[in-house]
Amino acid sequence: MAEKEPTIADAPGGAVAALVAQFAGPDELVEAASQVRDAGYRYWDTHTPYPIHGMDRAMGIRPTVLPWMVLAGGVAGAAAALLMQWWMNAVDYPYIISGKPLFSLPAFIPVTFELIVLFSALTAFVGVLALNQLPQLWHPVFQSRRFARATSDGFFLSIEARDPKFEESRAAELLQSAGAVAIDVCRMPATGREVPTGVYWGVATLAILAILPPLGVAWYRSGAKKLPRIHPILDMDAQPKYRAQAFNPLFPGGMASRPAVPGTIAQGEMDENTALYLGKLGEQWVDEFPVPVSMEAVQRGRERFNIYCAPCHGLTGEGDGMVSQRATRRAEPNWVPPLSLHAEPVRVQPVGQLYNTVTNGIRTMPPYASQISVEDRWAIVLYVKALQRSQHATLDDVPEEMREKLR
Ligand code: HEC
Repeated sequence: MAEKEPTIADAPGGAVAALVAQFAGPDELVEAASQVRDAGYRYWDTHTPYPIHGMDRAMGIRPTVLPWMVLAGGVAGAAAALLMQWWMNAVDYPYIISGKPLFSLPAFIPVTFELIVLFSALTAFVGVLALNQLPQLWHPVFQSRRFARATSDGFFLSIEARDPKFEESRAAELLQSAGAVAIDVCRMPATGREVPTGVYWGVATLAILAILPPLGVAWYRSGAKKLPRIHPILDMDAQPKYRAQAFNPLFPGGMASRPAVPGTIAQGEMDENTALYLGKLGEQWVDEFPVPVSMEAVQRGRERFNIYCAPCHGLTGEGDGMVSQRATRRAEPNWVPPLSLHAEPVRVQPVGQLYNTVTNGIRTMPPYASQISVEDRWAIVLYVKALQRSQHATLDDVPEEMREKLR
């Protein structure tokens, strides 16, 4: 192959730092790269305006270890999160929440997940920079003037002098025979490689500024600084009040949260309609329903009665509900049979008294105020009334045209 001799430009400066060879196009560069790879160089690179398929294979680049670093970061994040939560929840401040064990994996998943993500992302970010040895402010190839074309239309291959195999004439020969169209010898510049002093000052200033916040935190925590703490934004978070679980020396036990004082009624909770809520007017049981009486109300009452009352009192109210039957069969010593709702003493009761029995219970019958709403309790009373009437019907209850047949 009688290629034309490449021009060799020698930059001014000190010792040789790198050789930069330009190639005609991407295919020539890939071919040259595989030759340099086979020659056994380590510190060399190719520079192209755009990514070239097959270049990594031609250069013999092995798969990156970054994924393994990220995996290690994620595992470290999970370990840190679990350790931290175990320490805080099970050791430093053992606190039972919703009856869960002190070390409860399901409860710790969200924080663990977040730390896995955080540690992996930071590892990926720092890992990319470290593996690429970034930031790199200076490189010998910058000495080559033609190298500027690497970002527009130039295809370059550089071999650095720090490579153990580097020897100027042999490397130049290799590049020549690989088809380089031009070779630049880059030398260490005599001046201009030092970092400007301003950068040192900047970094030092940033470092001092970064130390201040942790120092301040340590100062406040040590107690050397008396309250009030720094509070630049006076939001509503600065309120003269006790928070839940705070210590309050005023009350016994040091509790800040007070249980409700017996007999107090919260605003808007006062039920002044005693006929509706208590079934009473003064000391008298009401005899009229304080709610609208309708067929729907009776139906609703029947439904609720069959749920709440029939188990003991029976579907017809005779006192033969399933619970009572079973208790009687087993001869339960403490069982008091429910009264028949058709017994004379119950039948003559005003509706207010029936309502009160459902609301507050009576003797051995439990109260139902917490389970049945006021409206439903009245509906049940309405149905009880209907039941009682059904079992003690007189001729007056029968429609006129049917009375003849019954007589
Ligand atoms: C757990 C079983 C049980 C249930 C459920 C039950 N009761 Fe009773 N009830 C009793 C017993 C027992 C008595 C008799 C109490 C006694 O004499 O000690 C009774 C008595 C009564 C009395 C008579 C009160 C009096 O003045 O003597 C009425 C009225 C009554 N119940 C209505 C109801 C209504 C309405 C319901 C549905 C909301 C209901 N009960 C649900 C067991 C029950």
